[in-house]
Amino acid sequence: MAKLAVLGGTPVRAEKPWPQWPIHDATDVKLITEVTKSNRWSYDGPVEWKFAEAFAKYQGAKFGMCSANGTIAIQIALEALGIGAYDEVIVPGMTWQATAAACIDVNAIPVLVDVEPDTWCLDLAKVEAAITKKTKAVIVVHLYGCMADLTKLQALCKKHNLLLVEDCAHQHGSFWKGKGVGSFGDMGSFSFQESKTLSCGEGGFNTCKTKEQFDKLYSLRNCGRGYRGDFKFALQGGNCRLTEWQAAILTCALERLDKQVKLRDANAIYLNSLLDQIPGVMTMRRRKEITQQSYFNFTFRLDLPKLKGVTNKQIIPALNAELSTVELFEPPYDPLNNCSLYKPHTKARHNLSTAYWKAIDPKRFKIPVCTDATEKSGLAVHHMLLMGTKKDMDVVANAVAKVVENLEALRGYDPTGPRRKYRGLAK
Ligand SMILES: Cc1ncc(COP(=O)(O)O)c(C=O)c1O
Repeated sequence: MAKLAVLGGTPVRAEKPWPQWPIHDATDVKLITEVTKSNRWSYDGPVEWKFAEAFAKYQGAKFGMCSANGTIAIQIALEALGIGAYDEVIVPGMTWQATAAACIDVNAIPVLVDVEPDTWCLDLAKVEAAITKKTKAVIVVHLYGCMADLTKLQALCKKHNLLLVEDCAHQHGSFWKGKGVGSFGDMGSFSFQESKTLSCGEGGFNTCKTKEQFDKLYSLRNCGRGYRGDFKFALQGGNCRLTEWQAAILTCALERLDKQVKLRDANAIYLNSLLDQIPGVMTMRRRKEITQQSYFNFTFRLDLPKLKGVTNKQIIPALNAELSTVELFEPPYDPLNNCSLYKPHTKARHNLSTAYWKAIDPKRFKIPVCTDATEKSGLAVHHMLLMGTKKDMDVVANAVAKVVENLEALRGYDPTGPRRKYRGLAK
């Protein structure tokens, strides 16, 4: 049996570097230069709106608008929908903390609901069980490379008269029955942060269905001003805009997006077909309604009863070592009831009342599927891994197979190595 790289053996792949992210080419530099020379650097510039229209169209949304980042995009979506103090908003227990933090920042109460074991997206039976008289909205997160059942979720929201917000930070270019995510809910939000599949370093995007919603979103992101001087739906707003340089980078990235999404999707389908043959490994569920799946991260799970006490704690460093990557493989997000970055009680302004303080305590929610995925069974790897060739996917599957074949050696392994310096390649 070959010795595992993490224990001093030879890695499955030592030499060839993985694709890097983010990506740019000469077109980005050209457009950035044009913007610089144009003296039109911000505030409803032509590059921004051309991009906004093109991206909204690509996602199938009626209206779209750039905003400062994905967190703000969720926050202004909630505000534009009239969600505020003491309203309950259902949020998945596994997501980046911003999804829940945005609710608290509009004085609403995020109600953490557990996820499905095979998609890590909202479990709709548990959503229905969590609905109370105070529930106003559901935020669905299309997490990593999976989607919740959007058709059933729309019906559920309609039945209970709830608003639906889609957090699409992970899924630029995902399509459900041929239609882009972000166009199903009352509003949608996207992040353009550096790691995302459409990126300009930092940035966000809002989608919505009606002109009135759009006017409210616009006012919220532009210091209360009305769109093109129309103040009919103006609200108390802030500065949540982005610049023309960011829009320039996004314009070029959008040109490349669909091709990249298709490459990742094809590689993920192939990699899943290989992983499905490895005992102890379980792939994620792809719903039949998904016509194109975008991947922020590629994820899979361990069938723990078959792994003789070994968990993701040992397998993750073993895989990084086999593929010569620095923490490219990680556990999925911390469950939000035990997440070091989600601490609503650390802000005095969240203390609206004793009742509110109690209601926003994340510890009161039980989300065992999220906990199990993070602590034991889940693995997530950045989408740059899916941007290689089919042969690269063979290498990944070979690394997983090698690690699983060497479970005995891993059993006593204590993974307390150095923390990540940066995400990507080992030097
Ligand atoms: C699911 C999810 N929602 C929201 C956000 C927030 O986006 P941003 O970092 O642009 O504020 C992120 C960012 O990682 C995310 O992953």
